[in-house]
Amino acid sequence: MSSQLSSAPLAQSIPSYLHADDLGPWGNYLRQVDRVAPYLGSASRWIETLKRPKRILIVDVPIELDDGTVAHFEGYRVQHNVSRGPGKGGVRYHQDVTLSEVMALSAWMSVKNAAVNVPYGGAKGGIRVDPRKLSRGELERVTRRYTSEIGIIIGPNTDIPAPDVNTNEQIMAWMMDTYSMNQGQTATGVVTGKPISLGGSLGRREATGRGVFVVGTEAARRKGLEIEGARVAVQGFGNVGGIAARLFQEAGAKVIAVQDHTGSICRSSGIDTAALLDHVAKTGGVGGFAGADPLGNDEFWTIESDILIPAALENQITEKNASKIKTKIIVEGANGPTTTAADDILHDNGVLVVPDVVANAGGVTVSYFEWVQDFSSFFWTEDEINQRLERVMREAFNAVWQVAGDNDVSMRTAAFIVACKRILMAREMRGLYP
Ligand SMILES: NC(=O)c1ccc[n+]([C@@H]2O[C@H](COP(=O)([O-])OP(=O)(O)OC[C@H]3O[C@@H](n4cnc5c(N)ncnc54)[C@H](O)[C@@H]3O)[C@@H](O)[C@H]2O)c1
Repeated sequence: MSSQLSSAPLAQSIPSYLHADDLGPWGNYLRQVDRVAPYLGSASRWIETLKRPKRILIVDVPIELDDGTVAHFEGYRVQHNVSRGPGKGGVRYHQDVTLSEVMALSAWMSVKNAAVNVPYGGAKGGIRVDPRKLSRGELERVTRRYTSEIGIIIGPNTDIPAPDVNTNEQIMAWMMDTYSMNQGQTATGVVTGKPISLGGSLGRREATGRGVFVVGTEAARRKGLEIEGARVAVQGFGNVGGIAARLFQEAGAKVIAVQDHTGSICRSSGIDTAALLDHVAKTGGVGGFAGADPLGNDEFWTIESDILIPAALENQITEKNASKIKTKIIVEGANGPTTTAADDILHDNGVLVVPDVVANAGGVTVSYFEWVQDFSSFFWTEDEINQRLERVMREAFNAVWQVAGDNDVSMRTAAFIVACKRILMAREMRGLYP
C-alpha cells in the first residue's frame, strides 16, 4: 500500500472568508481530497463539490449572564454536503472553535457517513465558548439561543446535530425542547445522543467503543492475529477507550497498557478492565490503580503490543513517537490521532492503521438508528442494535479493505476513495438544480 496525505498542491477554491496562507484544519482536509482525486475516475468531474461547503451559517448568540450583564458568543453551523441525505454531525462548545475547524469537521462527517454508508451528508456546529466558565443556567441559555438561531437550517429531515466535545445528552435535551417549542410540536428526531427517556437509543453510549472492537477484530483476522491472548494498549480510558478495552478483554485479549490524562500503567499479564473502570469512576483517572504498575508517559508508546488504540485526543502519534511504536494494528478510536508524517512512518514499518473515519463510526451509526427509531416511535432492543451496528461496521471495514488492496493504498486513502465516490456519484445522479 502506498503512503498518503502528502502535501499535494491545494486547489484554487480557497474561499474569501479564510486566510489563504493559514487555512487551518480546512487546509488539511483539502490536501486529503487532492490526494484521492486521481482515484475517483469519472466522478472526479464533481470534485469541486467536496471543496466547498454547501451552506455556512454564522450566528451571534447573546445571553444574559447571572450577574445581569449581556455576553455575546460566536456560533456556527456548517452543512458540508447533503447529496446523500440530511446533514449530520455534532456540536462542539470550546473557546478556540474556529470556522475553519467546523468546516473541516463537517467535511470529515460527510466522509465518515459515506464510508460506513449511512444515508447522511456531513455537518457540524460549534460555539466559541468555554462551558466550564458558565453556570448551568447560562449553559442552558446559550444552548437555547444557539438552537433558535440555527433553527432555520436544522430539522429531522434537513440537519440533525449530536453531542461532540463538551456537549452531552442534557444539552441535546435542551436543543430538542427549544426546536420543538419553536415548531409547536415535539420533534425528537431533530438531534441524536438524547437521554433514553426522550427518544435516545439503547447502546448509543457504548456504540463507538463497540465499533472500535468490531473493526479491530476484523483487522486482526486479516493480519492472521488471534484475539485470544492478543496484547492491547489503549490511550484514553473514557467512553471510547474504556468500552473498547473491556470488550477486547471479554473476547480473550490482554489489556497490557493504558494511558490517560492522569498517567500511564502497565501489566504484562493483563489489566482487569472492570476493576480499572471502577477505579476511574471513583478517582477520575487510571493513575494510582493498584492492579498495575506505573509507566512513563513516553514509555507507553514504546511498549510492544499487537493492537494499539488511540482513543483520547488528536495529534498523539507524531513524527516523534511513530518510529518507536511496536505494534501490528492501530485502530483509531479518537478523531485525528495520527499526523500525516506519522502515518507515512507507520505505513513504511508495516503497521496496519484502521482510520478514524471507519474505526470510530460506531457512534454515528447508532445515532442513525436513534433517528430511525424516533421516526417510527418504535424502539429496538439493545441486542438488535448491537447486531445491526456490528453488520454495518464489518461491511464498512471490508469494503475499504478491498479498495485498499485493489489500489495498493492505505486504508485511510481507501476510506476516502470509497466515501468520495459515493458522495460524488450521488451528486452526479441527482444532477444540478435548476
Ligand atoms: N464518544 C463518541 O461517541 C465518539 C465518537 C467518535 C469519535 N470520538 C472521539 O474519541 C475520542 C475520545 O472520546 P471520548 O468520548 O471517549 O471522550 P472521554 O472524555 O470519555 O475520554 C477521553 C479520554 O482521554 C483521556 N485524555 C485526555 N487528555 C489526555 C492526554 N493529554 N493524554 C492521554 N489521555 C488523555 C482522558 O483521561 C479520558 O480517558 C475523541 O477524539 C472523540 O472525538 C468519540
